[in-house]
Amino acid sequence: MLEQAKRAAAAALEAWRRAASARRVRHNAHHVTRAGLAAGLARLDIAPGDTLFIHSSLKSLGYVEGGAPAVIAALQDAVGPHGTLLLPTYYLPGGTLRAACALPGYVFDPRRHGTHMGRLPEAFLAGAGIRRSIHPTHSVSAWGRHAASLTEAHHRAPSIFGMGSPWQRFIGCDQAKVLGLGISMGPVTFYHALEDAMGDAFPVPVWEGGTRLLGCLDHDGRRWDVPVRPFDPEVAQRRIDHPGRGDLRDYFHREFDAAGLRINGQVGDAASWCIPAQAFYDHLRQLASEHVTIYASAAQLAARPVSQPSPHARA
Ligand SMILES: CC(C)(COP(=O)(O)OP(=O)(O)OC[C@H]1O[C@@H](n2cnc3c(N)ncnc32)[C@H](O)[C@@H]1OP(=O)(O)O)[C@@H](O)C(=O)NCCC(=O)NCCS
Repeated sequence: MLEQAKRAAAAALEAWRRAASARRVRHNAHHVTRAGLAAGLARLDIAPGDTLFIHSSLKSLGYVEGGAPAVIAALQDAVGPHGTLLLPTYYLPGGTLRAACALPGYVFDPRRHGTHMGRLPEAFLAGAGIRRSIHPTHSVSAWGRHAASLTEAHHRAPSIFGMGSPWQRFIGCDQAKVLGLGISMGPVTFYHALEDAMGDAFPVPVWEGGTRLLGCLDHDGRRWDVPVRPFDPEVAQRRIDHPGRGDLRDYFHREFDAAGLRINGQVGDAASWCIPAQAFYDHLRQLASEHVTIYASAAQLAARPVSQPSPHARA
């Protein structure tokens, strides 16, 4: 009873905080519409039939009339009825894979557990026609043509991001692109697909110890024990998404621009970018062979200057 009351009070407080925050954005930011967002996406070469893996910051877009659902509608407009949207709807209690593994008795339940990945993934999860993969820490959700095939059997994959995972299937889709809406090159899960594909051949030992099993329920309430491998926390401190690694984010930004792989543009007010998935993956593999990974030290970056700009590079 007390627990229930505490939860209700916390939810009411959070709803109040969110309403106040949305009011601030509405008063201070430039207003953008679904049609304006769709026009921005077209300038990033997002086209009908595309399959997009999207990482986002809602507040970077300006004040979106209609909120996160309007952004999702604009993305659906941009890829059309034959396109596919894929969003990170990870539920990560404790904030990291390692913390989730340490939580006694933790079992992921897609009927109860939402996502910690921001307002756009939250709204996507609540929307119609969504498929959600079953995974204790890195459940993704998809809408559109490839939604079922991208999300199926994630819980049976031997690793989170490798063979049999949504990422590996995503790379194989026609017109697959990674889209960053108002985010840097930091919070991009796609990098881990290469680590899981290369395993111990990846040049940095990114994992702490071996594989663990974490529980999750599927949509029918059946329990699965799913293999996960936590990241070494010391190595994660050097990773591109760590606040202290602005140098690495800047390097990757310039490198993918120079290679002519990153298309940059404004979506609403947000500096945004898009990179075709197969070319992204191939370039990450090439960089890894030259000792540049999302964990590279300043010395490793200095030893491999950013590529010469390609004639195809676009501002
Ligand atoms: C962390 C992160 C989500 C923060 O971005 P953000 O814009 O502050 O947060 P959200 O996208 O959740 O948007 C919420 C904010 O939008 C703003 N907002 C509310 N209504 C809005 C509207 N109609 N229009 C625009 N902004 C609005 C509010 O400021 C709100 O902040 P609040 O939480 O204080 O209420 C983002 O920086 C990020 O890293 N995104 C990628 C996450 C990811 O995919 N991670 C996996 C990679 S490993």
